[in-house]
Amino acid sequence: MDVITTRSLWRQALINERAQGRTIGFVPTMGALHAGHRALVEQAVRECDVAAVSIFVNPLQFGNAGDLAGYPRDLEGDCALLEDAGAAYVFVPEVTEIYPDSPDHQATSIHVEGASLGFEGADRPGHFDGMATIVAMLFSLTGRTKAYFGEKDIQQLCVVQQMVADLAMDIEVIACPTVRHDDGVALSSRNARLSHTARQSAAVIFRALSVGGKALESGATRQEVEAVMASCIAAEPEVSLSYAGVVETPSFAIPNELRPGQEYRLILAGELDGVRLIDNIGAIAGRRP
Ligand code: PAJ
Repeated sequence: MDVITTRSLWRQALINERAQGRTIGFVPTMGALHAGHRALVEQAVRECDVAAVSIFVNPLQFGNAGDLAGYPRDLEGDCALLEDAGAAYVFVPEVTEIYPDSPDHQATSIHVEGASLGFEGADRPGHFDGMATIVAMLFSLTGRTKAYFGEKDIQQLCVVQQMVADLAMDIEVIACPTVRHDDGVALSSRNARLSHTARQSAAVIFRALSVGGKALESGATRQEVEAVMASCIAAEPEVSLSYAGVVETPSFAIPNELRPGQEYRLILAGELDGVRLIDNIGAIAGRRP
């Protein structure tokens, strides 16, 4: 596996691969890799000739400096995992390589209306602009690819899909299923910051989504589905609810009425032990009996 630290070498390595007729699968990450990331890389390895992964903790998408400074980093462990998963290239640029004039002086920013406004967008102002800006730059450096994103971050996935469509980028976005622990908790580097009891309480998030999903499938209204999820969370005092919603994808619009047979996303965010966790599932609306 080649570890590359400059933009020009990254661009050139992938141009060379394509010149030899090979397809590229690209997996952008911020490192601290776990089995959720690994599943994306393994899918890229299966579906493309060459898997290329980026590791860059992007300052532009962090609201506060403490979060950025505290973000877990483990380059050695990450490289071992990627090598083992079969990645051919990993891009590990310094901040100055990506933002030569410092992130604060980046003149160009990508803003996606619609999908990026509510929920995570409302709770974390600027987050999706910073995310879309780095993803657009990474796409530009990487060139024509299949790009792998986790459904775990469904709103991020929708923002990226909207950006790629609107800017006619030569990228095929591939959505990958969420990898979960046995108790349903979605793998996330943030789980490591939970105390033992908080980690056990975190399972209520997936339970609430599952109960909401069943209600949606049996014909409940959006308001009823949201209420069912909220009351499930309320039964776990350690968890404070940020939002529980039902949205259409990829627009992230809130439906007035659920149409039987249509797929929706149930989305949920909660805080426990000072750690914010997000999760979601898909479900198909049923008819009220
Ligand atoms: P990061 O949080 O490192 O996530 C990288 C990718 O891994 C994302 O597509 C995310 O949805 C996926 N992922 C994380 N946990 C997962 C799980 N349990 N199951 C499946 N996929 C999972 O998301 C980012 O980095 C950044 O915003 C980035 C896109 C790299 C831009 O900076």
